[in-house]
Amino acid sequence: MSRKIGMWLYQNSGGDKIENKIIKKLKEREIETLSGLNLRDALAKNGHILHNKTKLDKLDLFFSYNAGEQTQYQMFLYQALSRVIPMINSYESFSLTEDKFQTSFLLRNHGVATPDFKLCHRDDGEQLRAIIKKWDKLVYKPTDGWGGVGLTKIENEATLDTLLPFLNQMDLRFFYVEKFLKYDNTDFRVDIVDGKFVSCYGRKASGTDWRTNVTSGGSVFLREPTDEVVELAIKASKVCGTDIAGVDIIYDLEKEQHVVIEVNGIPAFATPEQEKMGLDFNKKKIDLIVEMIDRKTKK
Ligand SMILES: Nc1ncnc2c1ncn2[C@@H]1O[C@H](COP(=O)(O)OP(=O)(O)O)[C@@H](O)[C@H]1O
Ligand SMILES: [Mg+2]
Repeated sequence: MSRKIGMWLYQNSGGDKIENKIIKKLKEREIETLSGLNLRDALAKNGHILHNKTKLDKLDLFFSYNAGEQTQYQMFLYQALSRVIPMINSYESFSLTEDKFQTSFLLRNHGVATPDFKLCHRDDGEQLRAIIKKWDKLVYKPTDGWGGVGLTKIENEATLDTLLPFLNQMDLRFFYVEKFLKYDNTDFRVDIVDGKFVSCYGRKASGTDWRTNVTSGGSVFLREPTDEVVELAIKASKVCGTDIAGVDIIYDLEKEQHVVIEVNGIPAFATPEQEKMGLDFNKKKIDLIVEMIDRKTKK
């Protein structure tokens, strides 16, 4: 076989079975796959990136799909490798989606609706005071967080006053805050592969939390998207340059529009439990990924 790609895909929650299906379908197209290539175990030597005896820079493509937090070392090699061979996602778009401020900024700059946000210098706490007067409620977000962790709702100036000294102690470089939107505590997760709509499902926050994340007690449910939601997700993915994206969307009751909350560069396949619930998009997603890899590696 003349084409060979590298792959690193999560193994939990049914990931191992998904990986096997992708490898099989690629083989049918005469594309060979080396799997389990964690950049943690690679090293750069002169002009090459080596994983055991394999020169990763000689592969036709690298498919990186492991949502566990990547260390600076892995990201560093990801960046270097992405300069010399095609990667899904490219380093540029993957690192973009890892940062909520950079993503929201780019989206808004391209006319994609997001919650209003502000980034200010850590010494500029006065900005936050001014803005809470205007916005009423804020969400403080760590720009590199996930799973709803660290998100803090600030409901009034008194909360801000208690929080600011604490945030200052944490040696942050900046504050990223969003207007807290009135919404129905549900969201849409829309998967886009290669610019095409794959699937949509919803998540609903538990009665006691305002966050829809499953890790914050939220639950997944079947949900049909409107055309508007699908178009918004496709546009967000395009602006971010992602080959694969999971776009999180909520409906802003005040402005009466859908807004993009977040773009995920490694959106999970449906787990075996979710498949039993009726989330049946894995095959379509696998097929679109295989098709895209085939196209990107055509010689
Ligand atoms: N500006 C906001 N207003 C209201 N709720 C929000 C806002 N931003 C996020 N949320 C809620 O918090 C959840 C987590 O936010 P998100 O930005 O996606 O961070 P994470 O990466 O931790 O999932 C969202 O799914 C949504 O339910
Ligand atoms: Mg999220």
